[in-house]
Amino acid sequence: MSTAISPTAYNYKVVRQFAIMTVVWGILGMGLGVFIASQLVWPELNFGLPWTTFGRLRPLHTNLVIFAFGGCALFATSYYVVQRTCQTRLISDGLAAFTFWGWQAVILGAIVTLPLGYTTTKEYAELEWPIAILLAIVWVTYAVVFFGTIVKRKTKHIYVGNWFYGAFILVTAMLHIVNHASLPVSLFKSYSAYAGATDAMIQWWYGHNAVGFFLTTGFLGMMYYFVPKQAERPIYSYRLSIVHFWALITLYIWAGPHHLHYTALPDWAQSLGMAMSIILLAPSWGGMINGMMTLSGAWHKLRTDPILRFLVVSLAFYGMSTFEGPMMAIKTVNSLSHYTDWTIGHVHAGALGWVAMISIGAIYHMIPRLFGRVQMHSVGLINTHFWLATIGTVLYIASMWVNGITQGLMWRAINDDGTLTYSFVEALQASHPGFIVRALGGAFFATGMLFMAYNVWRTVRASDPAQAEAAAKIAVVGAH
Ligand code: HEM
Ligand code: HEM
Repeated sequence: MSTAISPTAYNYKVVRQFAIMTVVWGILGMGLGVFIASQLVWPELNFGLPWTTFGRLRPLHTNLVIFAFGGCALFATSYYVVQRTCQTRLISDGLAAFTFWGWQAVILGAIVTLPLGYTTTKEYAELEWPIAILLAIVWVTYAVVFFGTIVKRKTKHIYVGNWFYGAFILVTAMLHIVNHASLPVSLFKSYSAYAGATDAMIQWWYGHNAVGFFLTTGFLGMMYYFVPKQAERPIYSYRLSIVHFWALITLYIWAGPHHLHYTALPDWAQSLGMAMSIILLAPSWGGMINGMMTLSGAWHKLRTDPILRFLVVSLAFYGMSTFEGPMMAIKTVNSLSHYTDWTIGHVHAGALGWVAMISIGAIYHMIPRLFGRVQMHSVGLINTHFWLATIGTVLYIASMWVNGITQGLMWRAINDDGTLTYSFVEALQASHPGFIVRALGGAFFATGMLFMAYNVWRTVRASDPAQAEAAAKIAVVGAH
């Protein structure tokens, strides 16, 4: 009996495909991150060619790490979690396969068009309309597969992790479709349907909620499944997780204007965004504490289990970046931090420390189970990866804090006669050491991913198809 056609087994094929591609895109996206970080240290690396310039490769980096790496991790884990917690196979193998191939096609579209300079110019929404339409179709199919599976569940309850995944899927569809409303003028050029300050507001309503729902809510779904599983403890408080869910999704959607402080956006909208961002600290920390406290009585496992370490440290970085974010949303603080490397440091505290680390932990948890092995090929290598990732993240964010505050203070320093104390180039020169440390930190993190690829490859090569088949059999209710 083959796993692919057995109705009494989970569809692990699509989970395996997305899990493997998470590692592949992680290496490419982070490798490109190291490359553009190096361009800021050695500008000669732009090679004087239009398609290798920082301006074109930067959006390719963000698309690869967010949508390719992060997206594949979210697809893989959500398909795994929804099947196991609903005790049922995905509603359609065909549609699930379409989401896999469609998603890879979107990513290839980005890899070709962004270096060629085709872009809508909207950050994190750069892909031109033909690719954006494909993305919308894939995403709606994803929603059908996910919610269809929930509908045919064998369990009474919908586990809280699925609530987070569900909100992430629905809100991402809404944001993507609204922000991409545009008028195509040729195959690769379109103009936004909105103008001026409205366009900016819609873009940052999208941009911030891409952070809130793509980079946060989806990964919280991951957290609610993999932290209890790896710690072998029930979630600390189920009640808190419900409060966490509703508070988070109610508040996040209002915080977008903090990206547009001191702009043409009406002042009241900026202040509303600031207030909502500060309040957002509460549910964010509620979720972080819920995850951390799940380890009550299991802290000793951190000594021997590097996968659990990945998951717990990711929560620590989540707590850190969701404390920093509300502070940066305060207008006076933002007047110092905006445009500086402080923002970049904040982004990567969330991106490397939270998003990447929790994904890596979840993939290490799933790979042996998906390929019929008891554990990963080498636990020692996971440990090496853990330290490379942690040290890399700390080097990255610490150097960007120093750079950001230096830049902010140098730009605003004025002499008695009102002239600027420093030229822009002087601030850039002062940033150079920080750029070197950031590139080094990034190289640490990306090297860790290479160790992961080797470890995954060895585990997959030793895969036992009979065991994998048995593991995919739907367990009795309550044993997920
Ligand atoms: C090895 C790891 C990485 C390195 C070396 C790296 C490097 C960089 C660099 C140099 C920039 C441009 C900064 C600037 O314009 O001054 C950047 C931007 C960005 N990166 Fe990364 N990155 C890495 C991993 C990631 C990951 C895993 C994510 C997301 C999950 C991510 C998300 C972003 C985002 C969202 C931006 C744009 C930030 C903004 O516009 O404020 N990066 N990265
Ligand atoms: C309570 C939670 C958070 C709040 C209130 C918050 C707030 C902020 C603020 C005020 C900025 C700077 C805007 C500017 O000056 O342009 C920012 C930038 C950013 N944050 Fe957060 N943040 C939070 C959590 C996170 C997390 C967990 C991530 C995850 C990965 C993240 C990713 C980003 C990104 C990518 C940007 C750069 C956007 C851009 O300009 O391209 N944030 N955030």
